[in-house]
Amino acid sequence: VTIADRDWSGCSIRPCVDSDVERVAHLAGQLGYRSTPEEVGQRVREMQRGRDQAVFVAETADGQVAGWIGTHIFRSVELDAFAEISGLVVDETHRSRGVGARLVGAAEQWARSVGARALCVRCNIVRERAHRFYVANGYEQIKIQKIFRKPLRPTAPL
Ligand SMILES: CC(C)(COP(=O)(O)OP(=O)(O)OC[C@H]1O[C@@H](n2cnc3c(N)ncnc32)[C@H](O)[C@@H]1OP(=O)(O)O)[C@@H](O)C(=O)NCCC(=O)NCCS
Repeated sequence: VTIADRDWSGCSIRPCVDSDVERVAHLAGQLGYRSTPEEVGQRVREMQRGRDQAVFVAETADGQVAGWIGTHIFRSVELDAFAEISGLVVDETHRSRGVGARLVGAAEQWARSVGARALCVRCNIVRERAHRFYVANGYEQIKIQKIFRKPLRPTAPL
């Protein structure tokens, strides 16, 4: 039995809806990405427009959003398409009850339903608890990467 097969949390998992954005934005802050509910609402609506991305929330028995997960299909020239977790967080007060495992299970189910053969996640080197969590849920570390970034100034109108 893997952690994902057990249900300690009593949560139900469902797609994110407009009325969740306040809590989802609050939890994005716990992940380290401060965002307003408006920003989160716009992002989630854009993600939910196509078939290639999904956002699920875990709702407790008393109706509180305890965590969320974003997932998408990653396409590249050199690899078959695979699914990736784009973000995952469980409320600090709801951790270690299996909520994270349920959310990852939902992302896996979604990924299978759109034909993906693997689910990956890129996880900051400092998130040691999350590393243990993924390994406990059947994920294997396959490499270490450096992420490079360049801010782009908008081009002048033509
Ligand atoms: C990583 C994260 C999502 C895990 O969520 P979670 O709901 O605490 O996860 P789970 O409860 O399924 O599992 C966490 C641990 O609790 C244990 N656990 C779960 N339910 C338990 C229970 N009822 N009794 C005892 N232990 C339990 C699991 O064995 C697991 O142990 P491990 O971390 O040593 O492997 C959460 O810690 C988090 O939001 N962290 C901050 C953000 C982050 O790092 N996100 C990942 C970005 S890539």
